[in-house]
Amino acid sequence: MYSRILMTTAFSLIMAHSAQAADKVPVKLPDFEPEQYVHTAPTLADLDADESIHPELRKVIKRGYDLFMNTQQLRGENVFNDMSCRNCHLGEGRQHWSAPIWPAATTLPDYRDKNWQVNSLEERIAGCFSYSMNGKPPAYGSDNMLALVAYHQWLARGAPVYEKNIAGRGFGKVADPAQTPDYQRGKKVFQENCAICHGADGQGQRVNGVVQFPPLWGDGAYNWGAGMARVDTAAAFIKHNMPLGQPGKLSDQEAWDVAYYINAQERPQDPRFEKSAAYTREKYLNFHRRTLYGTEVNGRVLGEHNNTGAKPFLKPEALRSRTFD
Ligand code: HEC
Ligand code: HEC
Repeated sequence: MYSRILMTTAFSLIMAHSAQAADKVPVKLPDFEPEQYVHTAPTLADLDADESIHPELRKVIKRGYDLFMNTQQLRGENVFNDMSCRNCHLGEGRQHWSAPIWPAATTLPDYRDKNWQVNSLEERIAGCFSYSMNGKPPAYGSDNMLALVAYHQWLARGAPVYEKNIAGRGFGKVADPAQTPDYQRGKKVFQENCAICHGADGQGQRVNGVVQFPPLWGDGAYNWGAGMARVDTAAAFIKHNMPLGQPGKLSDQEAWDVAYYINAQERPQDPRFEKSAAYTREKYLNFHRRTLYGTEVNGRVLGEHNNTGAKPFLKPEALRSRTFD
């Protein structure tokens, strides 16, 4: 299990630092639209209280929860960076504006623009393994995949199937910036608001080998094909979730600038890589027009390298296309 005690100690030390600031900052999140479906995802306590759940199923859902919260237990097998699912899907994957995971269980199978085909829930989870975890998804139908699917589906309890107008889905949006996002301004925002937890070098922090604060770039971070590598996606995540415990602290401009700064740093290669970063960017431009991959920043082309991080392979076999022709 995750070292909860260590997490709490490191965390309270740092929160004590920012407590003064935290007091002054009201938590500010976007409003829901009146016609949207608002879901309250059930908790593990609800799971224990629900007698209609077979004890075997309860075990499987709890296994899925455990994998979601501490995905590092699959390190070297399915995960090749420092991430756990919970790092980007806060509140156990239940939280609005933190890409709550349950909508995938009620809206899939559906077409996804990322890989131009209809995706199952397993395939969606596999996507976060291949890119966000710089890894290799557990096999479709395997015990671990089943457990993760069961956890997603449990969180969706009571939600209407194929309802797409979901309140608080994804990370929300940040209005277009008044000024073009800027590296130097972003660096300043980072040093003042983020470095205390994520490290001045963005490499996160470990205590006794356990990741306490996840890295934002470098070998331990999400790779160039990850959704978080898109500057707009990162800006929205940051605006509505960071600094931790103070969502809404940053102005829209600051969120864009710091998202640009983070995503102008190097990270493991996009597993879809072919020929060159410029070629791969062009081929997946529907995705990469929102990233800095294959573009020149501070005199070097981002992603032009063969570093796959701790992963001894490039393309997980799950990244295949299917055809019904
Ligand atoms: C580095 C950050 C990161 C990590 C780590 C991560 N994800 Fe994600 N995940 C994302 C992003 C970004 C999206 C897309 C959010 C958006 O813009 O809608 C996403 C979306 C999802 C969705 C779809 C939600 C929906 O609304 O349909 C699921 C399901 C999901 N992730 C599961 C997982 C699982 C399971 C893991 C761990 C194996 C994981 N994620 C790890 C960043 C991450
Ligand atoms: C008080 C400590 C703290 C501060 C300050 C903080 N973060 Fe985080 N951040 C975290 C923790 C902890 C997580 C993982 C959340 C979890 O697992 O519950 C995280 C997750 C993230 C993630 C997604 C996971 C990853 O590693 O890619 C990003 C991106 C991020 N933070 C960016 C920022 C930015 C940008 C700032 C400054 C504006 C910031 N954070 C400030 C603690 C902090």
